[in-house]
Amino acid sequence: MNFPDAIASTSTRVSVIGAGNVGSTLAQRIAEKNLADVVLLDVIAGRPQGVALDLMEARGIEGHDRQIVGTVDYADTAGSNIVVVTAGLPRKPGMNRDDLMRTNAQIVVEATKQAIAHSPNAILVLVTNPLDVMTYLAWKASGLPFSRVMGMAGILDSARFQTFIALKLGISPADVSAMVLGSHGDLMVPLPRYSTVSGIPITELLDAATIERLIERTRNGGAEIVELMQTGGAYYAPASSTCRMIEAILLNQSRLLPVASYLQGEYGLEDIFIGVPARLGSGGVESVLELDLTDAERTALYSSAESVRQKTHHALEMLKDSV
Ligand code: LAC
Repeated sequence: MNFPDAIASTSTRVSVIGAGNVGSTLAQRIAEKNLADVVLLDVIAGRPQGVALDLMEARGIEGHDRQIVGTVDYADTAGSNIVVVTAGLPRKPGMNRDDLMRTNAQIVVEATKQAIAHSPNAILVLVTNPLDVMTYLAWKASGLPFSRVMGMAGILDSARFQTFIALKLGISPADVSAMVLGSHGDLMVPLPRYSTVSGIPITELLDAATIERLIERTRNGGAEIVELMQTGGAYYAPASSTCRMIEAILLNQSRLLPVASYLQGEYGLEDIFIGVPARLGSGGVESVLELDLTDAERTALYSSAESVRQKTHHALEMLKDSV
């Protein structure tokens, strides 16, 4: 009898490119939720293999049979249902997400091309920062239809807003539903009117000054953790947020989640990836929901979009021979 150490080609497979903290934690979440087998790839030999072996050794205790394979070879990712790109450098204290642009743009384009060459039918999920720009570049580099390319940010930003609302009110986060639109950055657009506690808008429960403070903390949520940790940034909540998207896609759940999606006229915006409520299912982003926004909310979304657009153009200029 043969005992194969590679994943059988028929199993549902998610490839995670980048075996840093986000990628490794994501691999753990996917396997331990029994969603798919995982191929974890990194350019640093040894790291993905070590993490994969460690996760395999936890299987008996965690009670699942998912395979986790670590590799430096894109050929091992072939036939993936979903490819998640987490590869890139994280922020250092004092850096904003855009400082990462040049380095991460090259890493993301290269990783996307290699991964999609081996998994042309995959859905592509971007996690690398600056998120909205990287999602656009990956879409271009992949040649995939835009519905099959998306970025993770809105779920994370909404989860942070949800957390701060729950802590402030002393209520379980399970009863809090928050909505954050726009880019994953200082110009993100938390929407208090559409953020609720068991259906009650938070504008009924908290005064405007308190809500503003919670919004500020949400906008600063990533940087707050970078400042605390000094080396690297958040990874538990980013991995959970990405896993939620993977679950929605693999189980065809038709969940309505804030996701960096391609817009073609929705919200008056075109040819841009930015965070909006999207219906996620087996086809990827199956539709985008257009919310009614107040003038102030729309203005905030537009300035968020303008900044993403400028950075996207800048990145495309920088990479003009490779995208
Ligand atoms: C954060 C990083 C992942 O917001 O952008 O923590």
